[in-house]
Amino acid sequence: MPSTRRSLLTAFLTLPLIDSARTRAFAQAAPELPLTPACDDGDDPTLEREAGPFFKPNSPLKRDLYPDSPHGERITVAGVILDTRCWPLSGSLVEIWQADEKGDYDSVGFRLRGHQFSDTQGRWWFNTIVPALYPGRTRHFHFKVQRPGGRVITTQLYFPGEARNAGDRLFDEALLLNIKQTGDGKFGRFDFVT
Ligand SMILES: [Fe+2]
Repeated sequence: MPSTRRSLLTAFLTLPLIDSARTRAFAQAAPELPLTPACDDGDDPTLEREAGPFFKPNSPLKRDLYPDSPHGERITVAGVILDTRCWPLSGSLVEIWQADEKGDYDSVGFRLRGHQFSDTQGRWWFNTIVPALYPGRTRHFHFKVQRPGGRVITTQLYFPGEARNAGDRLFDEALLLNIKQTGDGKFGRFDFVT
């Protein structure tokens, strides 16, 4: 049976998390959904990237962004917020903003903008659409992540196999989503370390 975004999200939400031993168990239990990046003790914090011109404060508390762009290709992006010793961080802010299926940002309202707080096991996920390319950039999501009481990490996540990755001055393969194609769209995983 082909996987779906929902089945991969369910697997993500029901599998055990995360310390070094449990990371191996996770990898064995879900070989089709490898951890990205591998979580080892002493991991470096997630690489930061500039916010660019399209960030707006005060995004809504919102996990399902796809109704904002009903003609876009669906993607669920999900991951865990970890500290540098690989402990999951609950209650961390995760904020996303992105271009729509035409490559436009909503600068008037809050389409395809939202935030949430990681759950008790440090997990977060957004149900959204694949952002289109726009002039001058490869395909990307923007994120801000902030652990409780910590500083804000601003970064961008990228898509594997994009022709424009190589020529994009902000691209770094450390910020690649792990993407699975499912029967009803894509599922992308990235674990932030902060
Ligand atoms: Fe952008």
